[in-house]
Amino acid sequence: MSLVVVVGPPGSGKTTIGRALAEALGATFRDTDADIADAAGKSIPDIFVDEGEEHFRALEREAVRRAVAEHEGVLALGGGAVMADDTRKLLAAVTVVHLTVDLGEAVKRTELDRGRPLLQVNPRAQLRRLMDERLPLYREVADIEIDTTAREVDELTAEIKARL
Ligand code: S3P
Repeated sequence: MSLVVVVGPPGSGKTTIGRALAEALGATFRDTDADIADAAGKSIPDIFVDEGEEHFRALEREAVRRAVAEHEGVLALGGGAVMADDTRKLLAAVTVVHLTVDLGEAVKRTELDRGRPLLQVNPRAQLRRLMDERLPLYREVADIEIDTTAREVDELTAEIKARL
């Protein structure tokens, strides 16, 4: 099988749905945030605190480049990966699934998670800003767009599989 990349804002379900989709396709799942944390030997929030966002973005560009070159199966990217021009160029050549979610549901899904450094202060306003800024970028790279709000993982997975 070839590569299916999952993009979308924090709280859109990239990891959960990406994993389920990989299982449904009999493929393996990979996540660039996990690759970055493994290679750095520390969590994403610790990378932001110790080295700053710019350094994280450089690690992210390299992690995406490597994963797109190496991986066959389903690959989830961090919510901000599409901000990099070179990443969007790479994504033009592969199948990209864009997961969307309503702001209120994204706030609910992310509020119990302390692992998102950009959402520590006023998460609702931050999420709204990120979603507004990035929507055109997700749309630029996406082949398939699917709203995950108030829908079950199994149903979403089956729909994505049918549309691939
Ligand atoms: C980020 C999203 C995070 C992670 C990092 C930055 C962003 O991934 O890559 O904290 O800029 O939106 P998720 O989209 O999985 O939360």
